[in-house]
Amino acid sequence: MLVFAASDKGGTGRSVTSANLAYHRALAGDDVCYLDFDFGSPTAAAVFDVPDARQAAEDRGLHSYLIGEAAEPARIDVWSDTEHRVLRTRPPGSGRLVLMPGDVSGGEFATTDDNLRRCVDLLLRLNSEFDLIIVDLSAGRSYAVDMVLEATSLREMSGVEARWLVFHRWTRQHVAAAASLVFGKRGIVAGGVARGHDEEALRNVIRFVRAAVPDPESALWSQVSPTQSAWMRECDRDLKQLASTQGIGYSLVLGSVPLEPVLQWREQLITDEDVLDSQIANRETWDALSELAGRLTDDKFWEQP
Ligand SMILES: Nc1ncnc2c1ncn2[C@@H]1O[C@H](COP(=O)(O)OP(=O)(O)OP(=O)(O)O)[C@@H](O)[C@H]1O
Ligand SMILES: [Mg+2]
Repeated sequence: MLVFAASDKGGTGRSVTSANLAYHRALAGDDVCYLDFDFGSPTAAAVFDVPDARQAAEDRGLHSYLIGEAAEPARIDVWSDTEHRVLRTRPPGSGRLVLMPGDVSGGEFATTDDNLRRCVDLLLRLNSEFDLIIVDLSAGRSYAVDMVLEATSLREMSGVEARWLVFHRWTRQHVAAAASLVFGKRGIVAGGVARGHDEEALRNVIRFVRAAVPDPESALWSQVSPTQSAWMRECDRDLKQLASTQGIGYSLVLGSVPLEPVLQWREQLITDEDVLDSQIANRETWDALSELAGRLTDDKFWEQP
């Protein structure tokens, strides 16, 4: 299965959350491949803690592959190449966790027949090799979004299951932007339909993820004054109302990830050691990521809302 990770704005938590989802699925036994299609600013290597990926991706990253300058994109085996002490010990029963990095000096490019073909070839090959392929797309209505909409509209990809996650933060601007990226005039749905996707079918494979959501009831905010607390709760209510009027309400939300202090400070994978041993990360974050990872392939959450 392919999962496309999109967001309208930058800095939404798209890459860090998607990388954590890939990690959770690999822990659960799936063979997972993470593709960094954020050609302008690839970051996945840092999140997975694989500094060598920068070298590997110097001129063999996904950007070079798609524009025809590399025959095969570089692959990084995260379990063996990471510098992260905990990740280096591959847990028994886990699946493969492979990163295909973006080129260090990549950049956006318009889709041509040639690079579209290479994109389709790659996605088809990976789909038969891995259980799950997570594709981190550049923010906004990018060339990367256009390319995968085009690729998945082709008949040869019709047998490949593809789902979309649209990430946004929990603010008025982010809610409106995420809705517009999907349902707006030149949004994902319109762009897909223009390329031959069936509108209803495409809408049914798009879900939203709310990232870095502050929970006014959580211990993190227990020190705020009663006035601040009341204000936060009111904002939260207003945002839920706004999301629902923008058409991205509860029934289309695959999950929410709470604001996590560790991720606020550092782009990384949250391991069980961070939660149980050093206790630097919140249990709620781990649980939310784990639940979200499970829902990616749980059809119950992808039925027509
Ligand atoms: N749940 C969270 N709580 C707190 N901070 C978070 C959370 N998720 C992500 N972040 C932080 O938010 C910042 C932006 O996240 P990330 O880089 O994943 O966003 P992005 O949408 O991929 O951005 P870009 O468009 O620039 O690639 C990072 O510093 C990340 O660690
Ligand atoms: Mg990113």
